Amino acid sequence: MAISEGKFQDVLSEFAATPEFIREVATDFQKDLQIGLRDPKSSSMRMLKSYVGLPTGKETGEYLALDFGGTNVRVFRVRLDGEGRYEIIKRVGEPLIIPGEYDYIGKNSTADQMFGFLAKLIDDAIDGDHTTKFYLGHTFSFPSAQEDLNNARLIIWTKEFATPGVEGKVVNDLLLDALKKRGIENVVPVAVINDTVAVLLSAAYKQADIYTGSIYATGHNTCYLESSIHDPKGFGVGGMILNLECGNFMKLTPNRFDVELDQKSEKPGEQRFEKMVSGRYMGELFSMAVTELLSSDKKFDFTSIDMSAIVSDESANLEKATAIITEKTGQNLELADLKKVKELDAAIIIRSARLVTASYVGIVWQRANGGEIVKQHVAVDGSVYEKMPLVQENINKALQELLGENASKVTTILDVGGSGLGAAIAAAMAVVK
Ligand code: GLC
Repeated sequence: MAISEGKFQDVLSEFAATPEFIREVATDFQKDLQIGLRDPKSSSMRMLKSYVGLPTGKETGEYLALDFGGTNVRVFRVRLDGEGRYEIIKRVGEPLIIPGEYDYIGKNSTADQMFGFLAKLIDDAIDGDHTTKFYLGHTFSFPSAQEDLNNARLIIWTKEFATPGVEGKVVNDLLLDALKKRGIENVVPVAVINDTVAVLLSAAYKQADIYTGSIYATGHNTCYLESSIHDPKGFGVGGMILNLECGNFMKLTPNRFDVELDQKSEKPGEQRFEKMVSGRYMGELFSMAVTELLSSDKKFDFTSIDMSAIVSDESANLEKATAIITEKTGQNLELADLKKVKELDAAIIIRSARLVTASYVGIVWQRANGGEIVKQHVAVDGSVYEKMPLVQENINKALQELLGENASKVTTILDVGGSGLGAAIAAAMAVVK
């Protein structure tokens, strides 16, 4: 059965991100930022204070960095040598879930198991040394309320994490308990930061002109340096970094697939923007749209990795794409239909890149505050930004559309591994006077 052109256009148009639409999103994003600066409760974004500004670049010493926020947990021992120089002395990492073996992020796991697992990894990273004092920076990549740099209370799980007994708790208290249970009393947590903040710290440690840090991966979120906020309990220079939690931005119209995906998710109503753009959800949107396109009763389960492979198939007969589509749908499609599926795939990726860019531009406008836009880089880490075809070129295109003659002043740059390095820098900022 061939896919009718009418049906195809109908589904495809749901994912259109026209120039007018993304301009509206950028404007509404800036408005929501302004609302949040006056009163965070009135914004759809949480705009969380991080109690840290930018590093000076003079941060030095050896630190432990715990990077917790995706399916893999990593612990690093990092030596900072100042002025952007550093060395990773040791790195360990393991997934939080191996299907069929263990699962520390599902509904049936416990906080004790999860933090016990983190303590074990920390023990591996310090080679069982329970004597030498280690300062630890913790990148904890979930919305957390902070009143200082070292205490962060998890507000709500995102990215489909569901471990009971962690929401509402101070995460470093849970970590300290778990460390104690393993007989580790020489590891001293001194800073907790979001991964976006970690990326900003890491990039700013190495390079000037950086005020915005973003993650574009399983989840999506951005932070920026707000120069009007100074707090005696904060560290660093230039103001305070605000973790926007813009995955929760809601002032944009979702399409019917977005609505359905949200309703079926772990936390309906939350993280609406993230569910439209991030790697965790793009595959689901694509699956739903292809299911409809092929009028199938069975829901398909494409991942964002499948999307990447399909869209990057440039061959005339779409050999690689065909193999994946046939495997996932159980249908042998004719070439014209395979091309439609590939075009739909591209449209979902392009929409994601254009919406994310609109949010970056909202921040750039806000920082310029009606004045001149300064030359700057937006530091980004994450597999979608780094590896997904079409993403970077569409970010550039959208920047051009939205910023016009100012577009050359704003570029996105990749900061790989910022989550770990940033945690070490935050620890250094907290202990080096
Ligand atoms: C989710 C989390 C946020 C994190 C982002 C990227 O949006 O809520 O804290 O920064 O994922 O990992």
